[in-house]
Amino acid sequence: MSYDATIYAGTAQHYRFGRPRYSRELRSTLTELCRLDSGPGLDGTGRLLDVGCGPGSVTVPLADLFDEAVGIDPDPDMLREAARFAAFEHVGNLRWLQTTAEDAVRLEPGPFRLITFGQSFWWTDRERVAEAMYDLLEPGGCLALISHCATDRPRPIGPDLPPIPHDAIKELLRRYLGSDRRAGQGLGPQHPDSIEDALSRTRFGRPEQHFAPGRPDIVRNSDSVIAGYLSMSSSAPHLFGPNLDHFRAAMTDLLQHHSPTARFWDWPGDTQLLLARKPATPM
Ligand SMILES: C[S@@+](CC[C@H](N)C(=O)[O-])C[C@H]1O[C@@H](n2cnc3c(N)ncnc32)[C@H](O)[C@@H]1O
Repeated sequence: MSYDATIYAGTAQHYRFGRPRYSRELRSTLTELCRLDSGPGLDGTGRLLDVGCGPGSVTVPLADLFDEAVGIDPDPDMLREAARFAAFEHVGNLRWLQTTAEDAVRLEPGPFRLITFGQSFWWTDRERVAEAMYDLLEPGGCLALISHCATDRPRPIGPDLPPIPHDAIKELLRRYLGSDRRAGQGLGPQHPDSIEDALSRTRFGRPEQHFAPGRPDIVRNSDSVIAGYLSMSSSAPHLFGPNLDHFRAAMTDLLQHHSPTARFWDWPGDTQLLLARKPATPM
């Protein structure tokens, strides 16, 4: 699978304003899970590698659980946003590296205590990358694949606002971009099976699934909802060509129609963690 540098073109500036953050309990959940093995756990020592770090959504909140955190991403605009986020949060023990997961082993030697992928594993050559990450982990270290998951998760009681009308927005997007899920110059990755199946064919074996409770209280205005969509590879600004302003106007109208106050409840679901470990002693 070769990397297409345009998949996230123009999205980085919209990402943090438009995307929901992961669970407030992501840190404590990971700390607990990584302690279960006989290794030292997440105690402020060791190193974190966050792969496909984007604007630092996982790297920045977890960095102080380690001596050093390294965020890698092939998209330079994402890395610029990540550095800005870290400066804003006054987090200093971080390094950013522009590279793909596939090339990381060559450029960033281990060992790492924890390797995270926040909604980014999907973009990689999964089994090859998982095997490479296994070699980068210290004995007893963990691989955590992090994403939002609303399917089959209990829906909390949220603020008294309409939900983001995702179905209506998807219909609007179909009119502008067609019904294929586009990404960069082509379509998104077409994997034949689930992440769990892919990992089960590697030295990690089938991952454990855990959840940390999602944030039930995210409120967005129309600009933030639009930014969320413009931060996605499948509706990145460049895909609209000359129709981008037209799309923005149509989306603003649609959102106004669904919420006269132009405010919405964003429920991204709980934060799902697919966790795999490298044994503390060689097998
Ligand atoms: C959906 S964003 C996730 C950003 C962030 N990790 C988060 O959780 O919000 C996916 C990221 O994966 C990156 N990416 C795409 N292909 C990649 C690859 N082959 N290796 C590493 N990262 C890649 C993209 O540039 C993008 O920043």
